[in-house]
Amino acid sequence: MDASKVVTLAPKIRVRSLGKIFEGPRPVVALEDINLDVQDNEFVTLVGASGCGKSTLLRIIGGLEYHTSGEVIAGGRAISGPGSDRAMVFQHYSLYPWLNVIDNIRFSRRLRVNREDLTSADVERASGRADALLNLMGLPSMADAFPSQLSGGMQQRVAIARALMPRPEILLMDEPFGALDAQTREVMHDLILHVFRLEKSTIVFVTHDVEEAIYLGQRVVLLAPRPGRIDTVYKVPFGAGRRQELKHTREFLDMKKEILERIRETSGMKTDTDLLERMSRAAGQGEE
Ligand SMILES: Nc1ncnc2c1ncn2[C@@H]1O[C@H](COP(=O)(O)OP(=O)(O)OP(=O)(O)O)[C@@H](O)[C@H]1O
Ligand SMILES: [Mg+2]
Repeated sequence: MDASKVVTLAPKIRVRSLGKIFEGPRPVVALEDINLDVQDNEFVTLVGASGCGKSTLLRIIGGLEYHTSGEVIAGGRAISGPGSDRAMVFQHYSLYPWLNVIDNIRFSRRLRVNREDLTSADVERASGRADALLNLMGLPSMADAFPSQLSGGMQQRVAIARALMPRPEILLMDEPFGALDAQTREVMHDLILHVFRLEKSTIVFVTHDVEEAIYLGQRVVLLAPRPGRIDTVYKVPFGAGRRQELKHTREFLDMKKEILERIRETSGMKTDTDLLERMSRAAGQGEE
């Protein structure tokens, strides 16, 4: 591939000098001067200490939250609200409990918005894709089950299938596997990488799990808190076709350590540990 051509491509998501202040009696500068380009078909993960603005940034890109300065452009257009070009998946599976699995997947935003001019051909096409997505998620026999009959991991797979239904160009995921156990998480990691290859979407994925961030991402963006800002962007040196064994390699573990240390440094957690130590010492002395 001609490298000069790649450089000239417009990014899929362009964030420029972005700021977000939550007004109130004590205003919070959630984000300050964020600059980030995400390329088409790139997988970027966001990590950082709690409260550094990961969710806020994702929600702004998703059009669920307004920024207070700067600009965000997705697919060449300034973002002014949610759109079917962007789909979001959250930590807590938001399935409709009264719909079975296949209807949950079919019930996508695009179908709802265009309900009046829907033709039977549209519905048929949608059904074919819903079935295909259900297969892709490894749940072909679950079409008629209701969400309450599914495990957490299964519910999240249905939520991902539903998010993919309108063929969003951008998939925004906020700790989507945060509530799952470690084994299910591993399965989900390989599944989402498979989806990424197959659907050719652009993914921005928020997580507090550094291992997850490196295993999935092509770049890991580390945000620092107070005010929320980009601290470091790490290029992940591993290519496509990653396997779980990768997590045990020296290169992977070194990178994990480096990022974890940097998160600790930026979060001020060291001070908290000191405080805890002082408190336990004081408590110990009190007992004597
Ligand atoms: N609706 C809101 N009103 C006021 N302040 C808010 C609001 N939402 C978020 N904040 C503040 O903005 C900052 C960033 O919050 P955000 O939820 O984006 O952090 P985060 O990085 O996603 O944290 P976590 O890892 O805990 O999910 C925090 O200080 C938070 O208290
Ligand atoms: Mg969050």
